[in-house]
Amino acid sequence: MTDLIVVGIMGYLLGSVPVGFLVGRLRGIDVRRYGSGATGGTNVLRTLGPWAALFTVACDIGKGLLAAYLGQRLAGDWGYAVGGFLASLGHSYPVWLRFRGGKSVATSGGVALLHYPLQVLLGILAGALAVLPTRWVSLGSLVATAAVVIQVLVAGAPLAHRLLVVGLAVVIYVRHWENMKRIAAGTENRLGVRAQPRP
Ligand code: G3P
Repeated sequence: MTDLIVVGIMGYLLGSVPVGFLVGRLRGIDVRRYGSGATGGTNVLRTLGPWAALFTVACDIGKGLLAAYLGQRLAGDWGYAVGGFLASLGHSYPVWLRFRGGKSVATSGGVALLHYPLQVLLGILAGALAVLPTRWVSLGSLVATAAVVIQVLVAGAPLAHRLLVVGLAVVIYVRHWENMKRIAAGTENRLGVRAQPRP
């Protein structure tokens, strides 16, 4: 039990490192004041451009993967699940930014990558198919998430892994609530459009 608590705290702290926010700060911009207000790669892309976004996504994937790896090493499958889930939660709700962070897609992808690289790859492909005609990254994220969850559930994965991917999906879908409303209304931000200051 102590192991899981340690792994959980470590996972949360790793996940809550607000890479996108820090990258913006280096350029003198608070990304939370632009576009969707999120600190993830998509909003960094529309606010700061592709290189900053690439760096943010790579670090967000990396921190999820690292939390998952350490959790697995220290406490096995349940350590993987607890460390990975808390990393995703930390990314979306970082204590350093008054619990307003990103939307956990890249960080959760990093967590899933540890055991399910093929499923993540196929999830990305499914997501890309949704983004191509719409230019809605959020729709791609939701499709990719669902695709990974379904694959892991039907793969006969251990219970801890199945609970983990469902938990990750819940965090992602909750964080995309506003995106889903905009998608339904046809007003979601499209890829390639520069960020506007938030009201
Ligand atoms: O990965 C986040 C993406 O799905 C949505 O980001 O900034 O458009 O809300 P954003």
